[in-house]
Formats: sequence, C-alpha cells, structure tokens
Amino acid sequence: MKRLAAIVLPVGLIVTLIVVLLAGESLLWRSQVLLLKAQGQLNFITWSETFRWMLPGSPVYLSNLIEGRNPHVALTNTRYVSPEDAARGAELFGQNCAGCHGGGGEGVNGPALNVPSRFRSDWALYRTIQQGIPGTSMLAHDLPDPAIWQIITYLATLAPDESVADEGIDVAAIGFDRIASRDAEMKNWLSYSGGYDGQRYSGLNAINSGNVGGLALKWVYQSDTRYNKFQVNPVVADGVMFITEPQGRVSALDALTGEVLWAFERPIPDPEGLVTCCGVANRGVAVLNDTVFVTTIDAHLLALDIRTGRLRWITQVADYQVGYSITAAPIAIDGKVITGAAGGEMGIRGFVDAYNAETGNRVWRFDTVPAPGEPGSESWADEQWEIGGAATWMTGSYDPELDIVYWGTSHTVHEPDAPRSGYDKLYGSSMLALRGATGERVWHYQATPDDIHGFDAAQVPVLVDTELNGVQRKLLFNGNRNGFLYTLDRVTGELINATEFTRQTWAKSLDANGYPEINPDARPSRGGTLAWPNSVGGTNWWPPAYYRDAGYLCLPVVDGPSVYYSQDAEYAVGNPFVSVVGRQSFNEAAQRFIRCLNKSDGSLAWQKALTADGGRTQAITMSGLLATAGGLLFSADANDFIAVDADNGGELWRLNTGARVLAAPVTYQADGQQLVTVAAGKTLLTFGLPARP
Ligand code: HEC
Repeated sequence: MKRLAAIVLPVGLIVTLIVVLLAGESLLWRSQVLLLKAQGQLNFITWSETFRWMLPGSPVYLSNLIEGRNPHVALTNTRYVSPEDAARGAELFGQNCAGCHGGGGEGVNGPALNVPSRFRSDWALYRTIQQGIPGTSMLAHDLPDPAIWQIITYLATLAPDESVADEGIDVAAIGFDRIASRDAEMKNWLSYSGGYDGQRYSGLNAINSGNVGGLALKWVYQSDTRYNKFQVNPVVADGVMFITEPQGRVSALDALTGEVLWAFERPIPDPEGLVTCCGVANRGVAVLNDTVFVTTIDAHLLALDIRTGRLRWITQVADYQVGYSITAAPIAIDGKVITGAAGGEMGIRGFVDAYNAETGNRVWRFDTVPAPGEPGSESWADEQWEIGGAATWMTGSYDPELDIVYWGTSHTVHEPDAPRSGYDKLYGSSMLALRGATGERVWHYQATPDDIHGFDAAQVPVLVDTELNGVQRKLLFNGNRNGFLYTLDRVTGELINATEFTRQTWAKSLDANGYPEINPDARPSRGGTLAWPNSVGGTNWWPPAYYRDAGYLCLPVVDGPSVYYSQDAEYAVGNPFVSVVGRQSFNEAAQRFIRCLNKSDGSLAWQKALTADGGRTQAITMSGLLATAGGLLFSADANDFIAVDADNGGELWRLNTGARVLAAPVTYQADGQQLVTVAAGKTLLTFGLPARP
C-alpha cells in the first residue's frame, strides 16, 4: 500500500502540474476533485481515470462530483452524444454485442437491452460494458472510452421511454402552419419574437391604454438559479408556458397560475471550463409540433417531449472548449431547428446551422467566414478564416413565404493598430439572408465593413410588409448596434435607407448603398479614442418591437460614448481573443431611451428618456420591447416594469420589481384573460387586470 502511494503520489504531482499548466483558470475545480479523490471520497473511479478525465475533451465532467458524489447522477455521457456517435455506436454494438444481445438489443443469449433508459444510469452501463459481470458470459470489453460512450448513446436510442406515454400535459400540436400564421395566433406567443417576423407585436387589446393603470400581479415563479442572468423570453402555447433557466432547466408552467407542469434539467457540464464573454444565460425555447427545443451554454441542442419534458435527442452544435456557447433561443421552421452560436470574442468561426427536428441530424451549415476560395474570401487579407469571428449570437427571423432565414452576425477579428485594411471581412457585422431549405446565401448586407469597434449586426431583424411611396414592399429593419437603422428590401437585400437613431462618430457619412466613409479620428488607439456609440452599442440584444397600428419601429437605445483602446491579442484555443476594448468615459454621460421611428424614413416619432443609470456608467443594461394593439409599449426602466402609450411615449404604469429586468416581456391569453409576463431578477412575474367584481 505504501509502495503504491510512493508511486501514485509523485506521478499524481507531475500530472497535477501538467493539469495546472493546461487549465489556467479552471484550476479550482480540478484541485477540488483531486482533494476529494485523495480523501477517498471518489473510490468508484481510479486515479488513472481521475487524471485522464480532468484533461480537456473528457467524456464525463468530474467537476459535477464536487456538488454530489453519486456517479450515477454526476457522470453522464456528455461528449459522444451526436447522431454520428449513435451511428458509430450501432456499428460497434453490431461487432461486439449483437451476438448475445441481438441486433436491435432484443436479447438472444443475453438479456434484452432495449429497455427504457431511466432504468439504468450511463455510469452503470459504462462500468458493465468495461468490466463485464463476473461469473457470467458478459465479459469485460477492452474498448477505448469513446467507443463505450458511443455504444451507450446507441443503446439510448433503442427504447424510447414510453413509460409515461399516457401521462403528461395536454398540448395541441404546434404545427409549422400555426407558427407561420401569426395573425391567427395572437392568443399565443409561439416563438422567441412572438412570430417569425421578429415584430414582437400582439393583437390582444383587453389590456389597453385606458385600463393599464390597474394592472395587477397574478403569479410569480421563483427561479433558484445560481447564475445572475435570468433572461428568459417565455414561449406560450394554448395555456402552457415554456421557460428556461440558466443552469440548464426547462419548465412547462400553467400560463394562468404559474404551476409547474413538468421540469427537465441537464446541469451545465463543466461550468468552470466554459469560456463565455458575458456569463451564463439562456433566452428561451423554440417549439414545433410536439417538441420543445433548447440550446445550452456548452453549445448543444436538445429536443424534449412537449407533454413530459423527457429528452428525445441531444446534438453537439459546436465544441465549447474552443470558445463556442449558445445563449439565444433557436427558431423552429418547417421540419428544422435553426441556431447560431456565440463566441465572437474567443476566435471562433461563426455559422448558422439547421438541424432535422425529428432526428437532430444537421441538415446544413452556413459558415459566416468563407474559407479560402469561397465567395467572400477575397474580402480577407490573411488566412484568418478559421478564427475569423462573425458569431451568430442572437435569434434571427424567418419569412415562410420566401423561405428565407435572416440572421445577423457579430464583428470579426481585428488587428490592433493595423491601418484600416481595405478588407471588409465578410460576413462580419452583416445581415444574412439564407435559403431555409438549403442554407444557401440569397444575399448579405454588411453594415460595418471591417468592424474595428466591435459593434456587431446581430440584433433581431424585424420583417414588415408595407407600402412605401405607393409601392408594396417586403422590408427588413435592422436597428444596428453601430447607431444606424437599416431598412432593406428583404427579397433582394437592397438598401432603402439608413438613418442615425443615436449619436455616432465612427462614420463620416454613408453612400447610397450604406457603405461608410470611416472617420479616422474615431479609430481605437493605444492611448484610447472617444467614439460614439459606446461599446455596449446604440442598441443591443434587447429586442425591438414594431407597433403596427402607427407603423413605428421601436428600439431600446443607448446614447453615449466609450473610450476605445487597441491592445495586443494573440490567439490561443479557448481563450479570449480581443484586440479592441471600449471603456467607460468618465467625462461623458450615457443616457437610455426608448425611441420609436417612422417606418417610412426612420425619422423619430417619439422618445422616452429612461433613468440615467448612475449617469456615467457604461454597465448599461436595458430590456426588450413589446407592442400591443391596446396602444401599449411594455418595457423596463432599470428595476421598474413600465407601460407607455405606444402612440406618444407617455408613461401609463410603472412597478418596481426589485431587480433588473434583462428580458423582453410577452403577452398572451389564458382562460380568456390577457396576461403579460416578464423576468426580473430571478423571478418571472405575470400581470393581468383585476377580476371584475
Ligand atoms: C458472449 C455474450 C455476450 C456478449 C458478447 C455481450 N454480452 Fe452483455 N451480457 C451477457 C449476459 C449473459 C448478460 C447477463 C449477465 C447476468 O447474468 O447478469 C449480459 C449483461 C449485460 C448488461 C447488463 C444488463 C442489465 O439488464 O443490467 C449490459 C448493459 C450488457 N450486457 C451490455 C453489453 C454490451 C454493450 C456488449 C458489447 C460491448 C455486450 N453486453 C456483450 C452476454 C453478453
């Protein structure tokens, strides 16, 4: 025993040292796990496994053992879970197991394995396959880790868990046609923006400018998340509300009472190993037919049974260890789920993906940075495409008639001090129009070529059909973080107009196509350059709303500057890769507004100034907007949930929620009543009119 310790300890120390070197800031959980192991609390894994599974790319997340020592709960298959892994697992099963367990796991000379997965843990399967069952013909299998986990993924597909098929909640199927006909579905809120059009407009008017002053609290849902960003935008269908919480939970609530109908939780694997720019958040689900889709901070896409919350499939969208993460809600179109990914600060290559809604297989991917030789690659000077950026971190919109998906991208990599390169770096800070069926690019519109300030164009595109100068047009509005509102023809991508909605100094002017003449005096510099808008942006992910009744495109707006510094940045896998940072200006105040702009020319219809947020701080947060046929615009002013008159900005109602509102409100009908829901702090609050006596 002593001799063993004499070998294990020095080896352990060396490995620890390697781990320390590799791990950097995720050192903490690794040392905690090592301590637990040394204390004899993790005897179910060997020392060798402990060290191996601490390395990046591990199939299980040992960090989960810090919170609970039960391997059946903590050690789940998190890495080899894609449809490709299941296919490889099926092959391996055929070669190694089918002889005794039958080709489909139905059991021949060994027991049937096509039993519901809730009867066995991943960990039990792993050990059984690896070590066998002594004294039986179930022998140990000398297979590499990935092979065993792939077999486990395959086994999970053998027996869909039908044990509660008759239980579960009663929700009518939410077909594609229902989501596509927004006007017929105003009682519901069937996707992130209400409808595919990104308008965040509801035709409900029971709550209106005449009675909103009497709005009263109906119910509260308390989240027990450990994370500080509860940013969910609920989806509501036929009296059931679907929400997400940042720790990996999805719940179905009774939309009338707030009662929890089901809850699914997949704890964040390896929380310390995540590389996110802006913390852990999740902005909500997509629904289609009988399935709820959710993305995760470690860049997976999950499909859950809408009646029970049970997991149907899980697919890895991208590798979180190189810097991808997902916080935005996906959208579900006809048979497909569309998602992008964040990571623009980590040196990733952006993309927009479509997955088969039934199987989780990827149908197409559009890379937002072209590889050498692909169209657009001529807009790059160097071979930087693999780390080019152009992340797709917000939710896009969709036109079902044109079958075009519209998605905005973030900025690209930039080199400090490089004179403006003359290279535009497509498709950074652009609006993309992609064919829903194939992912092919229909058009693109780049708002900020070579976006050296890091503005992005990821903000939700708003699709509006309207008459302009006597011509019926299909428009796309993009209230861009760079301070301009771009109005595009969404069939062709042609610019109709671009107007400044907040102060900006980075562009001297725009030409007829919106191409900027850059102001050299606003360029980031080593010593810092004051420029507008600030680094939070003239607007940001806080979704806009289109008030149909007056034709106003309404935006949450920040008017203020940052001091932009350029700095050295060297790319290293999974690390921040940022060569321009904006810092607070101590001399210039920032002010927040809600601004509503006329659809025809982007001119200001009205504005409402919001609380100054301490005057000069750059830590500016805002809430999204909701417009209704009741003549109302709902939003938030710091901790207050507010309703203003959508025709003129006059304030009608205000309530202190006690914490920041970082999400967008939604409205829907349940049991004949119109209700309004918003997340504030760690609670979800639902309001309605008092019952009539
Ligand atoms: C030579 C025949 C044989 C082969 C090959 C074989 N098994 Fe088994 N397996 C058995 C038998 C027999 C048992 C039941 C042992 C007992 O009596 O407990 C068993 C038990 C199991 C169990 C536990 C079942 C339960 O209900 O708990 C699992 C899981 C399993 N096998 C998986 C596999 C996998 C995966 C492979 C291929 C990598 C495999 N087996 C290969 C014969 C085999």
